Amino acid sequence: MSKLDNLKFEDPKFQDKDMTRRDFVKTASTALAMTAASSIIPTFAIGGMAPVKVGVLLPFTGTYAKLGSHILDAMKMRIAQNGDKLGGRKVDFTVIDSEMNVPKSTQRVNKLLKKEKANFIIGPVHSGIGINMARMLKDKKVIVVVPNAGANQITGELCAQNIFRTSFTSWQTAYPAGQVMLKEGYKKVALMYYNYAFGKQTAAAFQESFIPGGGEIVADIPTPFPKTEFQSFFTKIAAIKPDAVFTFYSGGGAIKFMKDYAAAGLQGKIPLWGTFLTEGTSRQAGAAAEGIKTTLHYSTELENATNRKFKVDFKKATGDDADVFAVQGYDAGSLLIQGMDAVGGDTDAIVDLQNALRSVKIDSPRGTFTFSKANHPIQDIYLREVQGGVNKVIGVAAKALEDPAIGCKA
Ligand code: BEZ
Repeated sequence: MSKLDNLKFEDPKFQDKDMTRRDFVKTASTALAMTAASSIIPTFAIGGMAPVKVGVLLPFTGTYAKLGSHILDAMKMRIAQNGDKLGGRKVDFTVIDSEMNVPKSTQRVNKLLKKEKANFIIGPVHSGIGINMARMLKDKKVIVVVPNAGANQITGELCAQNIFRTSFTSWQTAYPAGQVMLKEGYKKVALMYYNYAFGKQTAAAFQESFIPGGGEIVADIPTPFPKTEFQSFFTKIAAIKPDAVFTFYSGGGAIKFMKDYAAAGLQGKIPLWGTFLTEGTSRQAGAAAEGIKTTLHYSTELENATNRKFKVDFKKATGDDADVFAVQGYDAGSLLIQGMDAVGGDTDAIVDLQNALRSVKIDSPRGTFTFSKANHPIQDIYLREVQGGVNKVIGVAAKALEDPAIGCKA
């Protein structure tokens, strides 16, 4: 580290907020040369590099509001544990509510990229916005970290050197469920899911393993997003009598789904399965969630030291119980910390930064993971069952599962 790394210019002309570390070092060297020449001694103080700009696009309203706030809270918590700094620089956050509005996301992403000149853009939760964001930011001079949206394309044809994900793909979470349900003896399954990109891909990935293994889809029921009137669909399920129902619902919609399913008298008669259905929702759904099985890359019940500490820290910081969304935000924070440390905070060294990010090992509450060539977590998928209000781990549905990244040419 050069001596300049510890200096802060008190002269206002060196306090340009947009000044990067490289600009700073360049300007500082020039300033030193100038002052040496004129023998005037400039006044320096500690810690003066321009802040790193982190733009955030997440939902803080609507059915995915908790998902967005848990991701942001956990990411900030992780960065706070690092002295509120990335690569030695302070951090400026610009936070925008995505409202899960896909058409409006173009203007919002542009605000973060062009007006705020973000070094990092973190988001989104919703796959429709994720696809739009990846199209807009692919190969741009900004690092994108997707802390949720699971659309396969972000790891497939839209993959790029500058786009990373700390979450999952639709395929990664649902493909193992088809295999597990076959093993558990289910032959005739009905599908219910929110009718947009992620729900449709979840249903497709489930069928990819379930049908070749001898399973049959007896009903395919997409429901409008983000509506929560499920009664008429449950009447249909009761009439068809499948062996089980495999679902994609999340957040507030998932709580309503489980409660209505129980109220319709289907709980215990036709088993409910899913991926995200019980995540961050099992306590609020209460008895209606008991016995539901899911395949996912995290459980609060995982026994490892990082998870134990993370749960306590998150509860202390927010008053909420941790969930997979918080984990994905926390890991986004770890990714930024490790990547920025590797380049000494130089966000202009974009290729070095990308290479550093790709090679980090994340000590995650879900278990340690690394990134694939498509910048996506290679991770275990757990089989969970709600018992006593929590998602107990009852097995490993897939070990070190890597998304096939179909169409990725980066
Ligand atoms: C998605 O749209 O990708 C998504 C939203 C909520 C939970 C999981 C995935």
